[in-house]
Amino acid sequence: MAMVCLNDFEQYARLHLPKATWDYYAAGADDGCTRDDNLQAYRRIRLRPRMLRDVSVCDTRTTVLGTEISFPVGIAPTAFHCLAWHEGELATARATESLNTCYITSTSSTCSVEEICAAAPHGYRWFQLYVYRHRGISEQLVRRVEALGYKALVFTVDVPYTGKRRDDIRNRFKLPAHLKVKNFEGTFQDTTGPEEYGVPANTMDPSLSWKDVHWLQSVTCLPIIIKGILTKEDAELAVEHGVQGLIVSNHGGRQLDGGPATIDCLSEIVDTVKGRIEVYMDGGVRTGTDVLKALALGAKCVFIGRPAVWGLAYKGEQGVREVLQILHQEFHLAMALSGCRNVAEINRNLVQFSKL
Ligand SMILES: Cc1cc2nc3c(=O)[nH]c(=O)nc-3n(C[C@H](O)[C@H](O)[C@H](O)COP(=O)(O)O)c2cc1C
Repeated sequence: MAMVCLNDFEQYARLHLPKATWDYYAAGADDGCTRDDNLQAYRRIRLRPRMLRDVSVCDTRTTVLGTEISFPVGIAPTAFHCLAWHEGELATARATESLNTCYITSTSSTCSVEEICAAAPHGYRWFQLYVYRHRGISEQLVRRVEALGYKALVFTVDVPYTGKRRDDIRNRFKLPAHLKVKNFEGTFQDTTGPEEYGVPANTMDPSLSWKDVHWLQSVTCLPIIIKGILTKEDAELAVEHGVQGLIVSNHGGRQLDGGPATIDCLSEIVDTVKGRIEVYMDGGVRTGTDVLKALALGAKCVFIGRPAVWGLAYKGEQGVREVLQILHQEFHLAMALSGCRNVAEINRNLVQFSKL
């Protein structure tokens, strides 16, 4: 099968993964409206390409938090990579290291952060943190990732409870016995009770509030990026709380159904933040023109969730590399065809909103 675009990897994963695994990765909350709209929303935005601008050389490089990456696409945190490929997160880490982009490792990884860093010692990585009721467990994890050289903490704020994913309920989704959330081996005292996505049920802390940003700042000197912001009000609060960045995200439509597509939220957030911190986004990015549109609307960098997992399901490290390479080539072409020679030339004049 010739892999030409990211949808080809999706097709492959759908055909080859066990049904319950596919359902888990594909799931959106409830009716899946927000998940689907994340993709559809890009179709409502049209580009305004400029001509005769000598695009014989186009430079796709950018920086995030001051570090150069090869193009403005990184890997969003997704759980349980060993379900898609036996080497799991080790393969993802190697692929992102070799292509010089950012890999946000999930708290819910099926390889430990130590194993991930050993597999790709020179990779540029951020760590995604779920803050648990038991703060000591989260704090210990922060210490570990700091010591390992992770460059930022991505504080996910849209999961006070897990969204209702119907297929997971129908399938009684559970990590198979041979897989574990490796960062927590031996951590939880009581593992006999009910489990939710690899950790004891009720581990998440629904009482989290903005003051917990200050708590996190008190236990780390790493930059903090808040993931899961969808409104200008919360973007302003993020700036006021002194974080270094935010990710416009609706968790791939897996949490609140009925919320907006992320690309539709971007402008109001970018306008509010006014360059005081970096704004990133994820959700539904599948083509080079999607990346271009997100950058035109003010994102510094975008992240892909499910496509990386499809790449893993296809061919492990090589598959993730191919997914990123295709997106890189498509982005390069989209820049050239719209007259942008470097990412600084991508701005809001490049988009128009369809009247359809
Ligand atoms: C299977 C799966 C697992 C995920 N696990 C996490 C996670 O552990 N932590 C987190 O912050 N976000 C998680 N997310 C959300 C992603 O980081 C990201 O927001 C979303 O996948 C982006 O949308 P996309 O899949 O359309 O690219 C997960 C998403 C999926 C699909």
